[in-house]
Amino acid sequence: MTSDLHVENVTKDFGDVRAVDDVSFTVEEGKFLTLLGPSGCGKTTTLRMIAGFETPTEGQVRLGDRDVTDEEPYRRPTSMVFQSYALFPHKTVGENVGFGLKMREVPAEERAERVGEMLELVELPGTEDRAIDELSGGQQQRIALARALITEPEVLLLDEPLGALDLKLRKNMQVELKNLQEELGITFVYVTHDQEEALTMSDEIVVLNDGEIEQRGTPTEIYENPRTRFVADFIGDTNLLDGTYVRNGDGAAVRCGAVELPVSPIDSIADGTDVSVSIRPEKIRIGETAGGVSVDGEVVDVIYQGNIAKVHVDVGGARLVSERQVVDSIDLPAAGSACTINWDREHTDVLTG
Ligand SMILES: Nc1ncnc2c1ncn2[C@@H]1O[C@H](COP(=O)(O)OP(=O)(O)O)[C@@H](O)[C@H]1O
Ligand SMILES: [Mg+2]
Repeated sequence: MTSDLHVENVTKDFGDVRAVDDVSFTVEEGKFLTLLGPSGCGKTTTLRMIAGFETPTEGQVRLGDRDVTDEEPYRRPTSMVFQSYALFPHKTVGENVGFGLKMREVPAEERAERVGEMLELVELPGTEDRAIDELSGGQQQRIALARALITEPEVLLLDEPLGALDLKLRKNMQVELKNLQEELGITFVYVTHDQEEALTMSDEIVVLNDGEIEQRGTPTEIYENPRTRFVADFIGDTNLLDGTYVRNGDGAAVRCGAVELPVSPIDSIADGTDVSVSIRPEKIRIGETAGGVSVDGEVVDVIYQGNIAKVHVDVGGARLVSERQVVDSIDLPAAGSACTINWDREHTDVLTG
């Protein structure tokens, strides 16, 4: 029997506020799934319903064949790492980590042994007797992780666990957490509002907006083929243009002001529909005209950032940004010069939402 996690048509109302609106997704056993979206979009509420700290207004949460929608949190094979860690400040490290086992009435001797193992796992061996407030933020984060893992959950739920750490430590912990997840082979449902973190760590990403799922996919799918304006804009930098979808014979294009961008025909879109297009800055080449879509324009701004440069190009009143790796700054075009920009047709993403 598998223990895939199924969230099925789950809705949560708090009075008049619909925090989560008919959300469904499955996480395959052993996978790393991230719920990604801006503050207030319903990430924490979704996680709390999986953990059992909130009851859905409608819908079900299942683990394999087992319906856990109304089960008490401690009866579920889930464990949660809270955004603020929620460690007990007046208990020692050992008491914090061993808490879940004490609740389950595991004898003291076995508990001590398992606490020791967990502290080794999170690379803080021998810290059992330390006080929580003697620890750094990064160490507290590891203790919170050890406390959640000691009950051997099938699913670990993590609510912005790295949010309080500084950038460098956060980057290190992203890699460590991902390695730990692969080593333990347990399912992770990870919540973050940080798109880069989501792209770095996840097998799959569910993008949430205002309580609803905008798109689900692998990091590559989400980044390379955003389907809505929200996803294109929220994940990575992009050029967004408004236009009209036009069919012409066997082909199709999006007309954006004076510029017509050829795209692959999409049967579900009717001729004349208002759409947006997204073109990622790093897909746009400058000064090459072979193949793909070519547009003439004028360089209006060059922003040098060391390893990369952002070249702003005016094309018939619209502004497109091309991001270039800087090998030699002498190769950058000058503001005011005429240029041709060029990209592959499949990198024009037609957005319908
Ligand atoms: N206990 C609660 N009572 C009332 N409203 C809540 C409660 N918890 C969350 N909300 C509301 O539900 C929405 C989603 O919140 P939340 O799930 O915390 O979002 P996120 O974690 O993505 O920031 C927000 O509008 C928030 O104000
Ligand atoms: Mg939250």
